[in-house]
Amino acid sequence: MTKNLFSGVEDDIKSLKEQLSYHNEQYYTHDNPQISDAEYDALFRKLLELEKAFPQLVTADSPTQKVGAKTLKEFKQVAHKNRLYSLDNATSDGALLSFENKIKRFLKLPEDIQIEYVCELKIDGIAIALTYENKKLIQGATRGDGKTGEDITENLKTVKSIPNEVDIDFIETRGEIFMPYSVFEKLNQERQTANQPLFANPRNAAGGSLRQLDSDITRKRSLEAFIYTGIIPENSPLKINTHQQMLQTLKELGFNTNPNHRKVNNIQEVITYCNEWETKRHSLPYATDGVVVKVNDLKMQKDLGFTSHSPRWAIAYKYPEETAETTLLDIEINVSRTGALNPTAVLEPVRLAGSTVSRASLHNFDEIERLDVRIGDRVLVKKAAEIIPKVIKVVDTDKRPADREKFIIPDTCPFCGSNTFKKDGEVAFYCSNSESCINQIKERLYYWVSKDAMDIDGVGVSLIEQMVEKKLIESPVDLYRLTYEDIATLDRTGDKSIKNILNAIEKSKSQPFSRVLTSLGIPYVGKETALLIIDSFNDIESLKNASIEELSSIDGIGEKIAQSVKLFFTSQKNIELINKLSELGIHLKENRQTESSYTKILNGKTFVLTGTLSSMGRTDAAEKIKALGGKVTSSVSKNTDFVVAGDKAGSKLSKAQDLGIKVLSENEFVKLLQDAIEQGEQ
Ligand code: IVH
Repeated sequence: MTKNLFSGVEDDIKSLKEQLSYHNEQYYTHDNPQISDAEYDALFRKLLELEKAFPQLVTADSPTQKVGAKTLKEFKQVAHKNRLYSLDNATSDGALLSFENKIKRFLKLPEDIQIEYVCELKIDGIAIALTYENKKLIQGATRGDGKTGEDITENLKTVKSIPNEVDIDFIETRGEIFMPYSVFEKLNQERQTANQPLFANPRNAAGGSLRQLDSDITRKRSLEAFIYTGIIPENSPLKINTHQQMLQTLKELGFNTNPNHRKVNNIQEVITYCNEWETKRHSLPYATDGVVVKVNDLKMQKDLGFTSHSPRWAIAYKYPEETAETTLLDIEINVSRTGALNPTAVLEPVRLAGSTVSRASLHNFDEIERLDVRIGDRVLVKKAAEIIPKVIKVVDTDKRPADREKFIIPDTCPFCGSNTFKKDGEVAFYCSNSESCINQIKERLYYWVSKDAMDIDGVGVSLIEQMVEKKLIESPVDLYRLTYEDIATLDRTGDKSIKNILNAIEKSKSQPFSRVLTSLGIPYVGKETALLIIDSFNDIESLKNASIEELSSIDGIGEKIAQSVKLFFTSQKNIELINKLSELGIHLKENRQTESSYTKILNGKTFVLTGTLSSMGRTDAAEKIKALGGKVTSSVSKNTDFVVAGDKAGSKLSKAQDLGIKVLSENEFVKLLQDAIEQGEQ
């Protein structure tokens, strides 16, 4: 009986733990949140509730017992001297009052006593810990799981608002790294032009920029920091008794503290501060998602201490996820490279969470039906983790004019006029003209040149658009036949850029087979799947002849992918494309022999790259080192074997010289790679 009762709860707990650890990993390790903070918090709260009711089911690996993230592997792991805690959340005034009641009960204080707090804005960025020894910044780390983080010292040194030296011998400070909205928007615009995936929000952009193995990239991202606390040794000459004094001292030491904090006299004033900043925060140039409320008196903080998860003396008041009301002006349909019709809401521009929103996701036609959203309706849009906001519901349906029509799924493609159809078992509708629909052609070409595919630098969406409109290209093969004169007919192309474009196209011919296979755009075959396929079929001929059974016997490849691959090779047009690519000398075979024999030559060797290399980019150099079995790290230490110094090498070069580490010039490095490759081939 008891067992049965528990087993249902046990299953729920197990499922919640799995969901939370998946989302933790997506959020912290991959900077790629799949659900909103509010949805995450709801799952977390549900788990907490169940665990509270059934304490015998709490395990050490539960997300409630840990603080957040797993860490990435590339950076050196560092143990934090003092653990970085997380915060409990409050989403209502009632929760703030109960936070104070708990404090009073814990400290056995009379109910009517007033407690002083400091209210600070909760910056929506990445938590960091900075360690200063003998006045110098010696370590900067991410929070990681709270006990161990990643050593990102070199990257943090590029953040202008973090001092490299302070006028105190020892201090450890904590704070938040963030990317101002203006920098974020500019970065995403650049990424869009370069066909790179966009960052979902400034927080993810800050995270992605901090976890760069090349600190020059971090420097270019113009990150900023707010420091909100410090830990000083007990024997320090500084006498600090309140959090307010702590912030003042940090400021005097040269740290950037957020100017909008306020010391308040009681919990009512905390509520006033939270209400006041709910709208005021939108005029700030950076993202905030709440208020952190901290007991001001440090002795009281010490007495309150910590639970396994968070301090008892602080709480995060989270603002509700933001929504805005606007008018749905149109439902625009795009047709993807696979022919799927994707609806997008076109909105009357409205301010939402610090930016202007004029488009929102409608997901698919089922969603339009479910929401019963019609052009002209007033709608509510929400900004969650996604890049573009979502339409969540229609408001004022009672005010909707009787003649406003329901949205009708188009029976012809908006781009080429061909019939649309629905595939069995799928929600999406498709354009039936896969061969000559102009939009499918454009989308396939955008994909061909994109970062994950053939990675043709300098050829982005607008160039492809013009080339297709001018009928210069229709298939990827045409790209390789473009002449100088062809490109000169396009807007904004001068002699230098034409040459660069032609070079980049030519260079892409040497991309490995795995990328070519990805670029073909076979439905469900992205870069990871292409690699799996290539492990079993290392040339296009054997792949073409593979049966569905052979394909689906590959680990990680299911029936759906196998069928899609098979279907691709039944099209005469696709076979012709492959033959022409082969004539152009594009790799349709994986050169496995050489690859596997290269590996291990640089095994165990650690490289640091600094300065600019003229013959290859840093990423390229790092890929080569890794392919030969070596490792690339961002900072020089006694464990470094080689420092490769390109043009304008900076502090890493001098550090290598100080430590007596072998420094390679670009020529020496290229020679080392060649020697390693030759040895591998023997
Ligand atoms: S205090 C033990 N103050 O919010 C005290 N945190 O879960 C811990 N955050 O990622 C943090 N602004 O980095 C504090 N003014 C602020 C903050 C702040 C943002 C972040 C923190 C952590 C999360 C807390």
